[in-house]
Amino acid sequence: MKKAIGIFDSGLGGLTVLKVLAKKFPNESFCYLGDIARLPYGNKSPETIRRYGLQILTYLKNQNVKAIIIACNSASTVFLGENEFEGIPLLNVIEPGAAAAIAVTEDNQIAVLGTSATIRSHAYRDTLHRLAPEIKVTEQACPLLVPLVEEGMVDDPITELVARRYLSEIREQNISTVILGCTHYPVIKSDLIKVLGEEVKLVESGDVLADELKALYQDHILVPDEGVRQIRVCITDLTDHFERLAHQLMAPEKISDLERIVL
Ligand code: DGL
Repeated sequence: MKKAIGIFDSGLGGLTVLKVLAKKFPNESFCYLGDIARLPYGNKSPETIRRYGLQILTYLKNQNVKAIIIACNSASTVFLGENEFEGIPLLNVIEPGAAAAIAVTEDNQIAVLGTSATIRSHAYRDTLHRLAPEIKVTEQACPLLVPLVEEGMVDDPITELVARRYLSEIREQNISTVILGCTHYPVIKSDLIKVLGEEVKLVESGDVLADELKALYQDHILVPDEGVRQIRVCITDLTDHFERLAHQLMAPEKISDLERIVL
């Protein structure tokens, strides 16, 4: 039987990661879990996020996945440094995202955008400093951006206005490397570029995780699968709105199966 790669996010934003991985690994199957019923994680305490996260890791393990990717940045901050869950390889977005930003910065300045939980944890700042102490890090919580994405307000003057407010310090300091430390932000990339300028280098979780996954195959920690691929999207709440949004975020990649599950 084909073994899928598990991906976990607090909602549908992580489909931005799944879409990249589905394209780059066309023979692999994926089992995505979006905890829509309890979204947002970004304003919750580390204890609550970890409790939810452990339930989801257990669910994915019971689906017999061969690896688990924590695409959610807020959840990644509470599983930092943990490379496996009950024998299953576990990837998070913080360390590879920080390393990718260090690789592209030309002036040792990096900005991090994220939810309140991610920014409050200082997980990116601390990881960046551990890897490269000389880097100047500017952190910015952008709590209004997630609901704007959930409402489909892409390429929208309101989103641009909100982004202008959050990004003013980053613009003033001329920071040209920016980590998109939230699964939802790649969806509004065009709005962010309007504010930050075309030359900004945006570090996105999808690309970073694709490189991490590739390394797991190269090191023979993961074995490629044969046969017909499945892209299963499990969410903890399902409405017409979420169904539409899920297909929209994944297009042109196709979801084989979208179902509501109970944790
Ligand atoms: N998935 C979350 C993250 O990447 C954003 C949405 C939320 O607040 O739950 O941090």
